[in-house]
Amino acid sequence: MIKKRIILDADTGIDDALAILYAIYCPIIQLEGIMVGFGNTSMEQAADNTLRLLALAKPKQEIPVILGATKPLVRPRGEYTVHVHGENGIGNIELPTTSQQPTTEAAAEFIVRMANENPGELTVVTMGRLTNMAHALELDPNLTTKLKRVVVMGGAVHVPGNVTPVAEANLWGDPEAADLVFTSGVPVTLVGLDVTLKTRITQQQLDILTRVVRPEHKQVAEFMQSAMRHYFNFYRQTNYFLDAAPLHDPLALMVAVHPELVTYQKMKVRVECESSLCAGMVVADLRPIPKVGSEIEVCIDVHAEHAVGQFLSVFE
Ligand code: BDR
Ligand code: CA
Repeated sequence: MIKKRIILDADTGIDDALAILYAIYCPIIQLEGIMVGFGNTSMEQAADNTLRLLALAKPKQEIPVILGATKPLVRPRGEYTVHVHGENGIGNIELPTTSQQPTTEAAAEFIVRMANENPGELTVVTMGRLTNMAHALELDPNLTTKLKRVVVMGGAVHVPGNVTPVAEANLWGDPEAADLVFTSGVPVTLVGLDVTLKTRITQQQLDILTRVVRPEHKQVAEFMQSAMRHYFNFYRQTNYFLDAAPLHDPLALMVAVHPELVTYQKMKVRVECESSLCAGMVVADLRPIPKVGSEIEVCIDVHAEHAVGQFLSVFE
């Protein structure tokens, strides 16, 4: 079986954690490394969460954790989203510590080196701000031709935002970085709120998973149960979802390896960077003859039941 070679870029919050666990157990993913950055929590906390998750999940080989950006490209950093992901980013669940350390190489250097060593082979899945990708493109503008694709969890095209009326958190947190990546020429697939908000995991499904989970994944299932309690509470309060929460970051990763889960539309887009009211908004030129922005692939619909089923299947 030819595996898909994936680099994850996480701001390790609750749904990032679920994506990381999926990546470790999915039989068609070869996980090459996990870069971290600020966002849901600090970059340092995201690194610590990632290392602890790896210790919990016990992958067959050591997966490098690579330190990245601590702040946006140009603007001040926003508040960490403690109300969404808890004080520590993973629903206040205390996972055991580990002896694994982050690598000494920085995220931008890591992407550039990996892409030079494996041209056309690697897909980067970003699950936080696009700052690490932007730094990498600044370091090597030819990176655009060496990566297979960048799959981005972020944005809201035909639906409202989740931080402001028009902006989704990952793009809002560093609009300049997102605009730089989208207009760079690197192939981009955008997995935004249009599809992630439809892809919801429920308490009932987690209960079933707890019953059918493979014995060696029992502790992982327990972690998901506990961390998701926090996430379900947040989504009940903000979106009126009852015992259900979106699989934002896991869906982006699943799209990278199972593209048939979604339908796409090519669009020319820019990311709004000037206005304070609309910062981080995806401005898609949907006119018959689009003129503004660079063409990217935008997910517009999802087979949500299949996606949630695919997510759960790797733990059984
Ligand atoms: C995105 O923002 C973060 O809170 C989540 O981890 C996800 O990456 C959803 O808007
Ligand atoms: Ca995230």
